[in-house]
Amino acid sequence: MPPRITVLGTGYLGATHAVCMAQLGFEVLGLDTNEYQVNALAAGNLPFHEPDLEELLRSGLRSGRLRFGTSYAEAAAFGDVHFVCVGTPQRADSSAADLTHLLACVEALAPQLTRPCLVVGKSTVPVGTSEMLSERLAQLSPAGPAAELAWNPEFLREGHAVADTMRPDRIVVGVRSANAEAILREVYAGPLSAGVPFLVTGLPTAELVKVAANAFLATKVSFINAIAEVCEAVGADIVPLAQALAHDDRIGGRFLAPGLGFGGGCLPKDIRAFGAATRELGVGSVNALLSEVDAINLRRRARMVDLALELAGGSLEGRAVGVLGCSFKPNSDDIRDSPALDVAGTVHGLGARVTVYDPAAMDKARQVHPELEYADSMLAAAADADVLLLLTEWHEFVEADPGLLGKAVAQRNVADGRSVLDADRWRAAGWRYRALGRPAAPASADTISLTG
Ligand code: UDX
Repeated sequence: MPPRITVLGTGYLGATHAVCMAQLGFEVLGLDTNEYQVNALAAGNLPFHEPDLEELLRSGLRSGRLRFGTSYAEAAAFGDVHFVCVGTPQRADSSAADLTHLLACVEALAPQLTRPCLVVGKSTVPVGTSEMLSERLAQLSPAGPAAELAWNPEFLREGHAVADTMRPDRIVVGVRSANAEAILREVYAGPLSAGVPFLVTGLPTAELVKVAANAFLATKVSFINAIAEVCEAVGADIVPLAQALAHDDRIGGRFLAPGLGFGGGCLPKDIRAFGAATRELGVGSVNALLSEVDAINLRRRARMVDLALELAGGSLEGRAVGVLGCSFKPNSDDIRDSPALDVAGTVHGLGARVTVYDPAAMDKARQVHPELEYADSMLAAAADADVLLLLTEWHEFVEADPGLLGKAVAQRNVADGRSVLDADRWRAAGWRYRALGRPAAPASADTISLTG
């Protein structure tokens, strides 16, 4: 009999994991204390935007292998493997991770565990958390040591959640016994047979792999944005510079796109929590490094507002600003710590009339920023604008026709927060084009040739 699986917490990570486990052929019960969320999922409706996931959710429900509920007693009775996928947001009073939900989940499940099972943490946590949870499990579960803890960090990206779960680039498991490893090998037999690397570590290493990966990605983005600051000081151009770096295989071009920097529900809070955890551990160098990474990242948002001010002639008071994009990245409706929405809010605070258009995130943005205006198309957001800001690189913005948009705006001023527009084409269409880390004037003779 293949192990029966529960997924505790049906947010982004948990919903994706539950659906994909059912797709891999397992019987799955997804559990959440949020009844609204459970009802939506049980009815086949995904409460967030994620390509391909809703279809798989519906096919899982139809197959009878996937269902959702709210009862821990039912989950404990049903599952052989319990994946813990609850959120670990940033604490309100510090930069550390808030483990309240995680602890509550394990403390609700453990007393119901009467037979052998594996509890597998997937949430992103400060190193040492799994050790603490393992102790709680041993104290609270009637099954005693037969209810074991393992750690299996998740690396999925929003917008690619299904592919990242079905065919991840690696599977990392932190285990304390050969039995736990064998169970996880069985759960991931599908991806493993397709050649996905399987790395077996201890619990603290598995916890650290996740935060180290996110810290590295954030550092890479902030590195190129720190170089963009230097470019701004000397009139150099970050775009050909980044392309030239990317040709070096040791550096690589991914996560080297300069611009408004990183946001979302993971990278910002994860580097802050990692910094806080290492400070507590007395390993200050990681904290110092990540504080700077965070500061560089946040400075890009302020610099973007500077560009808007510059294009508006020094004051945004009473000016019309069209904003293209408010999700934290394209192909997502997630606005958590969105750099785009942050800039839009600041520009509004400086007196501008801000009209936002985003293909997916406006419903969520409206709830948090009701003071902004929302248009139902790119052209409508640009209508009569004095300044146009491209803040999230959705495909339709990258491909936009500068001639057509030029007819809609009051003045042809554009600030490209993601350096994705063809500057020459926009300038040829009469636009004043500005971008972070790029010279105000068209490229000069020192431009690196990008051919060859
Ligand atoms: C990230 C990690 O990639 C993933 O492994 C982890 O599990 C969760 O956090 P996600 O938050 O979905 O995933 O977004 P990601 O695609 O990594 O982008 C993060 C942010 O970095 C976005 O705001 C994006 O716009 C920004 N970014 C990314 C850049 O500014 N420049 C780049 O070159 C790449």
